[in-house]
Amino acid sequence: MPKRGKSSASWLREHFSDPYVQRAKAEGWRSRAVFKLQEIDERDRLLRPGLKVVDLGAAPGGWSQYAARKVGSQGRVVAFDLLPITPLPGVVCLQGDFREREALDAMSEALAGQRVDLVLSDMAPNTSGVEAVDQIRSLALAETAESFAVDALQPGGDFLVKLFQGPGFDDFVRRMRERFGKVVVRKPKASRDRSPEVYLLARNYAL
Ligand SMILES: C[S@@+](CC[C@H](N)C(=O)[O-])C[C@H]1O[C@@H](n2cnc3c(N)ncnc32)[C@H](O)[C@@H]1O
Repeated sequence: MPKRGKSSASWLREHFSDPYVQRAKAEGWRSRAVFKLQEIDERDRLLRPGLKVVDLGAAPGGWSQYAARKVGSQGRVVAFDLLPITPLPGVVCLQGDFREREALDAMSEALAGQRVDLVLSDMAPNTSGVEAVDQIRSLALAETAESFAVDALQPGGDFLVKLFQGPGFDDFVRRMRERFGKVVVRKPKASRDRSPEVYLLARNYAL
C-alpha cells in the first residue's frame, strides 16, 4: 500500500526488490503477507485439518490460500474484503465493508449459523501517512474484527488480529486477556520494521 509522500515509482521499486514479494511470486502465493501467517502458524500451530476459519481483510488472498491448504477438504475458509477476491479453491469469497451490517448478514449466511474455530483479521486502513490517524483507523478495524470474533468463535477458538501500536493498544490487549486463555503479541519477520503493525494472537476463547 503506497504511503503518501513516497512516490509511486520508489514504492514500486522497493516492492519488486523485496525478497518476500519475489518468494511469494516464485511459490505461487497471492501476497507477501502469506509469510507473516506462515511464520505465526509454524510457531504457534494455529491451523490444522478440519478447522472452520474466517479471514477478514483477505484480498488478494495469500492468507486464505494458505489457510485453505492447511484445513483441507474437511475444513472451511470464508474470506471477506472490501475488494473483490479472485476465486480460490476451497474458499468462499465475500465482498463488502466489514463495518456494515450487510457484511455481518452475508457472513452469517455463509456460515449457516455455525461457530468457527479461528478468526483471522489482516484488515488494514489505507495509510494516510499521518501516524495517529492510521493508528486510530487500524484500532477501529481491529475492534470490528473483535466484536465479530466474540460472536462467531466456538469456546476454545483462536483470534489473530493485526493492530497498529499506539493509543488504545494496551486496552485492546487487556480486553483480549479477559476473554481468552492466552494472549501474545507477534511481529513476524515479513512485517517491515518501520511498520507499526503487530499481530495479537488470542487463544482459547472463553464464551
Ligand atoms: C494487508 S491487506 C490483506 C492481505 C491478505 N492478508 C493477503 O494475504 O492477501 C489488508 C486488506 O484489508 C482490507 N480492508 C480494509 N478495510 C476493510 C473493511 N472495512 N472491510 C473489509 N476489508 C477491509 C483491504 O481492502 C485490504 O485488502
